[in-house]
Amino acid sequence: MKTALITGITGQDGSYLSEFLLGKGYDVHGTIRRSSVDYRERIAHLEGHPHFHLHYADLGDSMSLLQVVGKVRPDEIYNLAAQSHVQVSFDAPEFTADVDATGVLRILEAVRQCGLAATCRIYQASTSELYGKVEQVPQNESTPFHPYSPYAVAKLYGYWIVKEYREAYGMFCCSGILFNHESERRGETFVTRKITLAAARIAQGKQDKLYLGNLSSRRDWGYAKDYVECMWLILQNERPEDFVIATGEQHTVREFCRLAFRYAGIELRFEGEGVHEKGIDCATGRVLVEVSEDFYRPTDVVNLWGDPTKAQRELGWNPTKTSFEQLVRLMVDADMAKVAVERAGEEVRTNLAEYLEKGIVK
Ligand code: NAP
Ligand code: GDD
Repeated sequence: MKTALITGITGQDGSYLSEFLLGKGYDVHGTIRRSSVDYRERIAHLEGHPHFHLHYADLGDSMSLLQVVGKVRPDEIYNLAAQSHVQVSFDAPEFTADVDATGVLRILEAVRQCGLAATCRIYQASTSELYGKVEQVPQNESTPFHPYSPYAVAKLYGYWIVKEYREAYGMFCCSGILFNHESERRGETFVTRKITLAAARIAQGKQDKLYLGNLSSRRDWGYAKDYVECMWLILQNERPEDFVIATGEQHTVREFCRLAFRYAGIELRFEGEGVHEKGIDCATGRVLVEVSEDFYRPTDVVNLWGDPTKAQRELGWNPTKTSFEQLVRLMVDADMAKVAVERAGEEVRTNLAEYLEKGIVK
């Protein structure tokens, strides 16, 4: 039985990767952080599994990493932990650098200090944000980097330090340069999930309007569940190499929005430009989407489009397993169900309060 250690196991990718590796018969260990509210929604269903284990560690704390790596002695490490929100990295640049840049170094050193350099394979969660102010479309493994946020600059250090440890110490460590991947488990402040949740709430009368930033920004959006398979494939490869993981298809935020609302039963038309652009309900004329400068970034990456040819050819990975339409549909369906359950809960609470007040129930 192989042993894997996943940092960032409570995140979107960590939860899918855990399921995937357990399915492959791995003993899965993950690092969690102490927080005043124990928020482990994405992995709650895995707790209690005999091959699923959690350990406290923080990428900002080398001691904790040394301890967990020394104890678990993993065959494979998936370093997914990060301050992963690009906009937040402008507000917390130093923390982002500590976790997303130096944190990678701490993982590599922990492996070396524990005497596992020759046996432990390491996957580093790199990102299409490295291409930033893009110099070429579509982007592949040879496209020059031009990071365009504190997050991307920190991740660039992570990319290079992985390459350095590979060349200097012969370690099997690789970066997956992943383009945006989404799911029903995506954090609610990333644009896709923000849109699908708002579309579900608006369709069910629980929200009036959605405020977004740059509607013309383009992304190559894939399904997170498909992408974690590739992380594993990268570590099963004969040689340690870096790979671009993407669908090869590009859409704007506006297109995502229009489709999500359509699946929630609302046909939108967009009118106006820049901050004055609005998404209008074709049936009622109501303005449901507006632009707010609060969601503009000091520097924004606007043209990400990946070329997954190398991963297709060398790893046998299928980049089009889940189409863009299927992705939007499954996210909207999940949020429609989530909002319906919340509404039902509210109704039960309201009725119960009324029955208690009237003495119908005691
Ligand atoms: P996510 O949902 O934000 O999860 C991030 C994980 O990192 C969480 O488990 C979080 O723990 C943990 N974490 C944050 N700071 C930490 C610290 N100081 N020490 C230990 N753990 C820490 O992100 P994701 O979407 O799953 O992405 C996974 C990785 O892939 C990230 O490195 C991200 O930058 C990278 N990436 C993501 C995408 C994408 O489109 N999703 C694309 C390219 C690259 P808490 O739950 O305690 O906060
Ligand atoms: N979050 C957010 N909120 N983004 C918005 C909004 C909004 O209201 N309105 C427009 N956008 C635009 C952003 O300006 C950006 O151009 C695009 O939508 C995507 O933003 P996010 O969904 O926040 O993702 P991201 O591309 O910045 O970062 C994600 O993907 C990277 C891979 O390219 C994260 O998962 C990163 O961790 C990951 O590395």
